[in-house]
Amino acid sequence: MTKIAPSILSADFAKLGDEIKDVDSYADYIHVDVMDGHFVPNITIGPLIVDAIRPITNLPLDVHLMIENPENYIPAFAKAGANIISVHQEACPHLHRTIQQIRDLNVKPGVVINPATPVQQIEPILGDVDLVLVMTVNPGFGGQSFIESAVSKIERLHDLREKHHYDYEIEVDGGVNQETARICVDAGADVLVAGSAIFKQQNRKQAIQSITNHLV
Ligand code: DX5
Ligand code: ZN
Repeated sequence: MTKIAPSILSADFAKLGDEIKDVDSYADYIHVDVMDGHFVPNITIGPLIVDAIRPITNLPLDVHLMIENPENYIPAFAKAGANIISVHQEACPHLHRTIQQIRDLNVKPGVVINPATPVQQIEPILGDVDLVLVMTVNPGFGGQSFIESAVSKIERLHDLREKHHYDYEIEVDGGVNQETARICVDAGADVLVAGSAIFKQQNRKQAIQSITNHLV
């Protein structure tokens, strides 16, 4: 079964708790987009918000760090209740150390690659992570269009997992909707992040079902 991770970036922040409750029963993870205005040209939320939403849901909080020097903030996100913390390869010169730092805090570590970053850049770390996140937009904003050329990286990650018996989940983030979801799952994705395709719709249950219908 394909997992769904609604991205709260497209939710109404004035009533974030209700927004999360609205998707809670139909989702598998809650995806939390953290941006610092340096690594990406936007600023969003920090550990305080993760801490505030932690009691709202029993779902794993899937925290996507789009920040420079993530190692300075990882302990605060772990303390706030993150279950998965993913860092960008492009932001981590000492990737093994950062992944190990996350694991040492009893949080599942993930690694993320931008659309222009090849899988080869993260091959040395694939045996150490629980999640690989393939960006299908350039990170920074919700509501952008899906970059189809990134799909071959999902296939590659799927093949590498089989070949080496790795056990990471393959997650896709950016421009995922009813149509592109199918392409991602056919390529081997396990988890789909969707922001605007869920939170910009009035009926969130229906929005999630229209993404998962026809998927395996
Ligand atoms: C983009 C974020 C995404 C974003 C996806 O930088 O990492 O998680 O919320 O939004 P949609 O699904 O609207 O492309
Ligand atoms: Zn994200």
